[in-house]
Amino acid sequence: MSKRMIAAVAATAVATVAAGMPMTQAALAQEIKVGVILPYTGVGAELAQQIERGAQLYLKLNPDQAKPYTFNMIKRDSKAPNGAEAKIAAQELLTQDKVDVLAGWVYSPDAIASAPVVNAGKKLSVIMNAGTSFITNLSPYYVRTSFTLWHSSYALGEAAAKTLKAKTAVVAYSDYPPGKDSLDGFKTAFEANGGRVIDAIPAGGPGQVPDFTPFFQRAKDEKPDVMFVFVPAGDHATAVVKTYGALGMAAAGIKLIGPGDIVQDIKLQGMGDAAVGLITMHHYNADLDNAQNKKFVAAWKKDFGADSTPDFTSAGGYDGMAAIVHAVQATKGKMDGDEAVKSLLGWKFDSPQGPIMIDPETRDIVMNEYLSEVVKGPDGKLHEKQLAVVDSVKDQCKVLALGPCAPKK
Ligand code: PHB
Repeated sequence: MSKRMIAAVAATAVATVAAGMPMTQAALAQEIKVGVILPYTGVGAELAQQIERGAQLYLKLNPDQAKPYTFNMIKRDSKAPNGAEAKIAAQELLTQDKVDVLAGWVYSPDAIASAPVVNAGKKLSVIMNAGTSFITNLSPYYVRTSFTLWHSSYALGEAAAKTLKAKTAVVAYSDYPPGKDSLDGFKTAFEANGGRVIDAIPAGGPGQVPDFTPFFQRAKDEKPDVMFVFVPAGDHATAVVKTYGALGMAAAGIKLIGPGDIVQDIKLQGMGDAAVGLITMHHYNADLDNAQNKKFVAAWKKDFGADSTPDFTSAGGYDGMAAIVHAVQATKGKMDGDEAVKSLLGWKFDSPQGPIMIDPETRDIVMNEYLSEVVKGPDGKLHEKQLAVVDSVKDQCKVLALGPCAPKK
């Protein structure tokens, strides 16, 4: 046997063991090539790691679901969140690496820019994070296992008026597509329930963390009951909560609320006491009390360290990989794009976030939204205390068929 052949056999053996198969089946194992597009460098690097770990953990915890297939992740760095690198990555993965499926996309501009390539490549493309509602309308090959900002922000608009009894709100948002969605989603529901958005403040973009002070000072001067903020998770979120604390806004009687992006689990402990009392609406946090999540969090801590934690981006990766495995099994490894997408229409999964489904009409996720408050636990750490659950939430931008969210005729 040549050295190269020995190496090839050894590589197969490692992948095979990972999928929980006896060695004799090794020759039968079919490798599925998963093209992964994530921001491995730059502002989104932590998010890329969280998503990838979530996806890998699904395979590790569910060997019986995955076998007899092995999954080879071919990774490409989408770098800055402006779409340019992500589009090239999608093109290369489809034409040169000839992947069976594409996955990833943290930032909406990356998924928007990749859509024409996804259309041309005709392969299932699983969005594991990017949350602008209309993205799934840009290609019939997009299926989303993450969220849209309409899921969280619309639900929070309703809760802000009804549960928090807020009458006025100022919205501050990162000025790019998901930020505009969060504003529209929140405002639509808040005002339908008697609230009034008295100002909407564009607050920088996703590429770098701005100084939020001038934006939040403007909000403070306007004395709303609540300040609703959307920024992409990561260092943006930490800066939001620190600035809110530094400006003494809580003491001024202004409650900070937002989608769970602003209290991302991996950032929460670093936010300090300024985070206590924040109210968010989201589909996942590491404190969720269900059997799947307990298993997920325990396995995560075992593999990546006691101080590490999954977050909502990891849930998108975990659920996304579960969707890919389902499509591979349903198409018997062929992964014809149309068949793979079809297999996921109406697909149901018991996720760490609770029950999820892919809406057969829109290829977008249907999931629970949890209204939560940040509290300090007896362990001295910050936790998410669940206040209420909204079951089986659909993306309301599509339900209401607003603008580019309306189905393509
Ligand atoms: C997005 O660009 O769609 C995005 C990024 C990070 C988030 C949410 C949405 O936390």
